[in-house]
Amino acid sequence: MNIAGTHYRTIWPTADGSVRVIDQSRLPFEFVTRDLHTLEDAAAAIRTMVVRGAPLIGAAAAYGMALAVRSDCSDAHLAHAARTLQATRPTAHNLAWALAQMHRVLAPAPPPERAHAALREAARICDADVEQCRAIGDHGLELIRRAAAPIHRPVNILTHCNAGWLACVDWGTALAPVYRAHEAGIPVHVWVDETRPRNQGAALTAFELAAHGVPHTVIADNLGGHLMQRGRVDLVLVGSDRTTSTGDVCNKIGTYLKALAARDNEVPFYVALPMSTIDWSLADGRDIPIEERSPAELTHITGRAASGALQSVQVVPDASPALNLAFDVTPARLVTGLITERGVCPASRPGLMSLFPDQGAAP
Ligand code: MRU
Repeated sequence: MNIAGTHYRTIWPTADGSVRVIDQSRLPFEFVTRDLHTLEDAAAAIRTMVVRGAPLIGAAAAYGMALAVRSDCSDAHLAHAARTLQATRPTAHNLAWALAQMHRVLAPAPPPERAHAALREAARICDADVEQCRAIGDHGLELIRRAAAPIHRPVNILTHCNAGWLACVDWGTALAPVYRAHEAGIPVHVWVDETRPRNQGAALTAFELAAHGVPHTVIADNLGGHLMQRGRVDLVLVGSDRTTSTGDVCNKIGTYLKALAARDNEVPFYVALPMSTIDWSLADGRDIPIEERSPAELTHITGRAASGALQSVQVVPDASPALNLAFDVTPARLVTGLITERGVCPASRPGLMSLFPDQGAAP
């Protein structure tokens, strides 16, 4: 995607064998990159959300393995690196998926060839993610085109968290169809949930939509239901961190409430995801591990002060405890359809199997 006329991916290798990422903890106020030199750098970047979003977490883990084998290509270090990266964030399935891809390539490779093989495989994972997101965009575009046909105004799309290009290598999942529609001249307007507590909607989704000139409005997380009641949402489009083989969808906390409101108001609720997000081993969304993050993300809020400096301020009394669960699960019955790189399908095992017959042996 373009930032001030320059095309960027969210992660790329540098000439000296390191890995460069856009530091998302500084957006939307500062656009800076950060170089990762070691396995520990990569793990810290994922843990502290310098990079975040399920597909990008997978891509960063793949490059984390490449950085690990650069310093030590032994079997023992490979196993240590995979364990370290896997422990960074528990919910996004793309992390385990990317580590499995790296293991498949690195385990049989002779140790002296592993550094080169790891870089090649990490680059392949990134390129594949770009193509998958582009295809998701094409399939989702048709849904937006259909929504636009009977109305003579912009299609109002509500999204939660950030499932755009910043969450992936390029394009995004839920936002890829929006970018495709915008490019195709279909008027769209996006309602952007702020997405407390970390505000990925207000900070990141708004940043990338603005950079591309896509009309949008940031809203409080609790406004979506009201807008749906008043007929001001035509479509909900969100991403996923882990989707079960039966179509239950885990995504950023608050997604479930949007799905309930969408069902009550007969607003189509679509989830966009690449195959790397599907956990074929799980049949029940309640078995998905839900990440619990520091209460400080809830008790404090970070933003730009009048001086221009980034500042964190406390918004909860000292004596009050806070619970910060980062994801929830929307049951398949509330999902209108899944938008994947292979097409749109019902959120169900038969639906997923119709698109991925090669994958889903019953768990
Ligand atoms: O905690 P985050 O910022 O990594 O959460 C991101 C999301 O919840 C996205 O909606 C999800 O990863 C889908 S990605 C395209």
